[in-house]
Amino acid sequence: MTRTKTRGGTPVSIEDDASSRSGGWLRTKSVEQSIKDTEEPEHALRRSLSALDLTVFGVGVIIGTGIFVLTGAVAKENAGPATALAFVVAGIVCALAALCYAEFASTVPVAGSAYTFSYASLGELAAWIIGWDLILEFALGTAVVAVGWSGYIRSLMDNIGWSLPQALSGTSDETGFGFDLLAFLLVLLLTGILVAGMKLSARVTQVVVAIKVTVVLIVIVAGAFFIDSANYDPFVPPAKGTVEGAGLQAPLIQLMFGYEPTNFGVQGIFTAAAVVFFAFIGFDIVATAAEETRNPQRDMPRGILGSLFICTALYVAVSIVVTGMQKYTELSVDAPLADAFKATGHPFYAGVISFGAAVGLTTVCLILLLGQTRVFFAMSRDGLLPRFFSRVHPRFGTPYRSTILLGGIIAVIAGFTSISELAALVNIGTLFAFVVVAVGVVILRRTRPELPRAFRTPLVPLLPALSVLASLWLMINLPAETWVRFGIWMVIGVLLYFVYGRSHSRLNPPAGIHR
Ligand code: ALA
Repeated sequence: MTRTKTRGGTPVSIEDDASSRSGGWLRTKSVEQSIKDTEEPEHALRRSLSALDLTVFGVGVIIGTGIFVLTGAVAKENAGPATALAFVVAGIVCALAALCYAEFASTVPVAGSAYTFSYASLGELAAWIIGWDLILEFALGTAVVAVGWSGYIRSLMDNIGWSLPQALSGTSDETGFGFDLLAFLLVLLLTGILVAGMKLSARVTQVVVAIKVTVVLIVIVAGAFFIDSANYDPFVPPAKGTVEGAGLQAPLIQLMFGYEPTNFGVQGIFTAAAVVFFAFIGFDIVATAAEETRNPQRDMPRGILGSLFICTALYVAVSIVVTGMQKYTELSVDAPLADAFKATGHPFYAGVISFGAAVGLTTVCLILLLGQTRVFFAMSRDGLLPRFFSRVHPRFGTPYRSTILLGGIIAVIAGFTSISELAALVNIGTLFAFVVVAVGVVILRRTRPELPRAFRTPLVPLLPALSVLASLWLMINLPAETWVRFGIWMVIGVLLYFVYGRSHSRLNPPAGIHR
């Protein structure tokens, strides 16, 4: 139990008090306090989700741009038919992290995911850093997927002879400027859905997820008939030197150890894994809905692990089929799944797949946006961001202020940015959160061994240690320039904490006026 003493009639935790005096940034928010905060009527979310809802949410956000778009580029440039192995590698890294997330989400069932977990285990500064990091993951992720969606819709519109003016079709390489009207409108529409309520979002998601999974199954089942086994030879193409990978664009590991930058070969599988990792992002977002789950202790681990397992199996099957249908050197970069069917003379399937991809990407955006607003909500409820944003809507029971603010900002980012390189930033941000969560599990086991844990990560501390190493391994396989951008974002975040968050935190002693 946390030891307390009384100050001005109010109980104050001795640890908190001591850490406040010593600067405050190491103070932790107790698990009990986090759970109690969720019960304040003005700041409480409605509990309506079941294990099935969570799994559907997970699948809804996980299957997206990663499998529908990145598979082609990765097979073509990094791994060839061994792309399936890259999905296995990334899936293992995610499974290790998922086991850590599952323990935390069942122990601290509070909105905010990794942010809340770090607040309970590593302290306020770490929590802030993670919250700031999750903004990178969710907000930029939403924008990246919205732009990908807009591309699919434009290609479907082209099929029926409609097209938008160039200036409204996103930033183009030729003009260097443009506004992506469709991506912008999509984010605004989804913002409206989220403001209107969780249950509505879950229903919309269920229908869309059913369409998306059907399309993925069509790719696997129908595509299997069009496989030419000659396309699998060589399965792991031999390593090839590259000049493009030089400089800051080379994976950090190649710069660190002075390797000659290469594509393909065994190293290529890891580079590919660091890229297709994007395809798995989302299972961690299931944890952000803990507070809206009816029985989080039981359903959180089921939702997180179940959705991850389903998606990994589908990804491996899709990549095996697609690299078998078309020689990896000929796969398309924009719409590899649909184009593989076109290339084998089956345009009907190609149309169905493009349609499914376009529909499917909407749920990815929706849930990334949802995850973002919930983290922001949790940070605001803790006073690290203005408390104004954590009021829930009197009728809908949703954190409408943060939803509208973030939806607006992300819509603008999606409208004005050409963002392929930002996908790598999303990956590094997410992997960093995995590292912190794995460390947090070990720390919370030491500091609060008596807490009831409905789900326990097996083999602690070995498994969390492996999770940290695996995540770091993928991180150093990302380009060095991604590390530089990530570093800049983090420095800005730390400065903001010392300027605003630290002095406004609700963990400040009661004498403080910032409550
Ligand atoms: N996993 C999600 C996608 O692939 C973010 O689009």
